[in-house]
Amino acid sequence: MLKRILISAIAIVLANINLVSPAWAGDTTHGKQIFAANCAVCHLNGKNAVMPMKTLEKEALEKYGMYSLEAITNQISKGKNAMPAFLGKLNAQDIEDVAAYVFAQAKQGW
Ligand code: HEC
Repeated sequence: MLKRILISAIAIVLANINLVSPAWAGDTTHGKQIFAANCAVCHLNGKNAVMPMKTLEKEALEKYGMYSLEAITNQISKGKNAMPAFLGKLNAQDIEDVAAYVFAQAKQGW
């Protein structure tokens, strides 16, 4: 009896972790949709149509001090030079998700 209760308690905890984890990590599936709608026009396949050397690939991000979730999130929010700011256009969750998607793609190689 006690064992059964314990097992269901553990199952509930695990189920909750599963529900919560996408919010911690950023939802890359949603991020991909945000990317297609807002970023791909300049960054198709992780490239950069406006400033060709500033791609979203790991090597470029590292070179320009952008290879972290924080730096990417910050630039999406505030923009930089020819890249527009997205804060106001996208909400905080959208920005978090698209940043997580970009970072994951850079890691695994577009
Ligand atoms: C109008 C074109 C345009 C759009 C739309 C755009 N960007 Fe950019 N992006 C740029 C330009 C230009 C740069 C280089 C800025 C600089 O450093 O001067 C850049 C740079 C970046 C960088 C840093 C790349 C590096 O190597 O330093 C990231 C990350 C990035 N963009 C992500 C995004 C994301 C995510 C979106 C969508 C939410 C987005 N961008 C939308 C033009 C754009």
